[in-house]
Amino acid sequence: MKLKHLILGIITFLPGLNKFKAKGTGGTGSARYCYSVWLRHMVLAKKNGLNPYPEVVAELGPGDSLGIGMAALISGCKRYFAFDVIEHSNTEKNLQIFDELVSLFQNRAAIPGEEEFPEVKPYLDDYNFPADIYDEGRLSHALGKSRLRKIRTAVGLPPGAESLLSCKTSWYDEHALEKESVDMIYSQAVLEHIDDLRNAYRAMRLWLKPEGYISHQIDFKSHGTADEWNGHWMYSDLMWKLMRGKRPYLINREPHSAHLAILKEQGFKLLCDKKIQSKSNYTLDDLSQRFKSITSEDLITSGAFIQAIRIG
Ligand SMILES: C[S@@+](CC[C@H](N)C(=O)[O-])C[C@H]1O[C@@H](n2cnc3c(N)ncnc32)[C@H](O)[C@@H]1O
Repeated sequence: MKLKHLILGIITFLPGLNKFKAKGTGGTGSARYCYSVWLRHMVLAKKNGLNPYPEVVAELGPGDSLGIGMAALISGCKRYFAFDVIEHSNTEKNLQIFDELVSLFQNRAAIPGEEEFPEVKPYLDDYNFPADIYDEGRLSHALGKSRLRKIRTAVGLPPGAESLLSCKTSWYDEHALEKESVDMIYSQAVLEHIDDLRNAYRAMRLWLKPEGYISHQIDFKSHGTADEWNGHWMYSDLMWKLMRGKRPYLINREPHSAHLAILKEQGFKLLCDKKIQSKSNYTLDDLSQRFKSITSEDLITSGAFIQAIRIG
């Protein structure tokens, strides 16, 4: 694993070979995945006393399609912004996923759960369609023909066009969005890839309305860069630099406690921290110098679902 990633990284230093395009980034090429992820974030928002009806939402790292955001729009949101470093999705794929998502909502389909997507977190206690959030009155309004037609037309517009959904690839500063304009910012398996986490949390804090919140599933695992799930904390900074090469992103190697510390420092209050713990075959002493000071809890925390509100 180490050798494969080392070669991949070093190759990107060669002139002309630094263009990196992932073939598939995750799950958003599947409408059922997008439906499942959106509803999981909303079910837990309600459980944690947060507003399950955000009007304006923003997503970091949508990946292969804008499906999670389209699920948000179909279920009643009014505006969706997506920020990725690479435009992975295309209009044809988005339209196909849009149509499948509409059917899932029209059928009030159960949330695809652990059997269908064992790797997808957060897990829920109950995967029935959340009719307590989307009651008949609300959903029949959201699924009204002219409303859906309007969203579908927006999905079909060329990238960059101003509409009720938009995707930007250069978002990395607070000006990408108007201050205090968004009700909810979410991501799925993305915050572990963002190099400048402090700036990302800072930007999110600025974009959120005073009563807004963030909702993120974060995966702290090695993403195939090591044989052990936490083997990426064994590599020195120099080794990691070579493995990363000039790829636009890999993983930032920040552990769970680093997210919690930055989040607090940037003006958020944590309301939910659903950790996934995995066995570690290493002790803290085995880790590279930089990671020796992570906590013993970090060493066994392979993922977390966090929801937080802005303070002040
Ligand atoms: C593992 S994929 C997850 C995609 C999708 N959220 C899903 O659930 O399938 C990670 C995504 O994060 C994006 N990404 C990496 N660095 C980023 C950054 N700094 N800002 C925004 N997106 C980023 C990648 O381009 C990719 O789309």
